[in-house]
Amino acid sequence: MSIPSKVKIIDVGPRDGLQNEKEPVPAAVKVELVHRLQDAGLKEIEVTSFVSPKWVPQMADNAEVMAGIQRKPGVRYSVLTPNMKGFEAAVLSKPDEIVVFGAASEAFSQKNINCSIEESIERFRPVAAAAKAAGIAVRGAISCAVGCPYEGEIAPERVALVARLMKDIGVEHVGVADTIGVGTPLKVQRAMDATLQYYNVDEISGHFHDTYGMALANTLACLEMGIWHYDTSSAGLGGCPYAKGATGNVATEDVVYLLHGMGIETGIDLDKLIDAGKFISDFLQRKPHSRAANALLTKRLG
Ligand code: HMG
Ligand code: MG
Repeated sequence: MSIPSKVKIIDVGPRDGLQNEKEPVPAAVKVELVHRLQDAGLKEIEVTSFVSPKWVPQMADNAEVMAGIQRKPGVRYSVLTPNMKGFEAAVLSKPDEIVVFGAASEAFSQKNINCSIEESIERFRPVAAAAKAAGIAVRGAISCAVGCPYEGEIAPERVALVARLMKDIGVEHVGVADTIGVGTPLKVQRAMDATLQYYNVDEISGHFHDTYGMALANTLACLEMGIWHYDTSSAGLGGCPYAKGATGNVATEDVVYLLHGMGIETGIDLDKLIDAGKFISDFLQRKPHSRAANALLTKRLG
């Protein structure tokens, strides 16, 4: 398999990035971040999630954020929906894609969505069917695909099992997620190989949190397998509320710098992307969690 010449980035910053912020981020700021990302050339943006506001208070303004976005043609706006209640609320906001999120670890499934892996699939089944009937694309996420904060290392067979279950219920595309960023290239490749038993190379994304600084290496390892979709987060924002200590997704800026440096097309304007990351980082009163963004921001100062 040769390295792809084009890569599609799904910026999950507004959702995965912001969901764990303790202080409320106003809907208008989230909307502005989405606008800046689409202006930077992002074609897929994970905007918010329709989950319990008691569990994830930061996403309670989901409908308001979706309503505030001035949609740009050609951009796909996705939202997380863990069950029919979430889907029914989400559908009013007209997402282009919904995301069901399961896990390869039983313990993480319980902590994150309060049910077993098997129960989660039964919750996702009607969601996937209803989405398809409404002409909405269906993506899935497989959390803890290499390691779990509660169970430790996760065998590739467990990933294959969830991939099979997701395929069975009509999930069209899956993100293989290293939720806590413990993966290293060969382990991540094994999780991808497991998923490739049920999904083809065009239907899989890499979703790497960067807790141990391995996310770029893992991205490169997946590029070598021909994987060309990646979930990344503007300014490296984020972390999962049910994965203590895990940091954000790999920064979109870092991945774009890597890809452009390798001559791989993304359609993204790195300067505008850096401005988007700077905007949200300024709001949060911190520096972007992106080596490339900070280097290029310093360089701008001359
Ligand atoms: P539950 O308690 O099992 O659900 O929660 P329930 O059906 O028994 O309902 C309990 C209460 O929640 C009821 O309200 C429901 O109405 C309400 P009450 O009567 O107590 O007032 N409820 C909802 N409210 C709004 N939206 C909904 C919804 N469903 C039920 N959709 C549930 C199950 C999944 C809802 C809950 O566990 C939850 O919200 N969990 C949060 C999960 C989450 O957002 N995690 C972070 C995102 S996943 C992630 O970050 C990983 C990813 O990035 C990939 C990776 O890196 O691994 C995707
Ligand atoms: Mg994540």
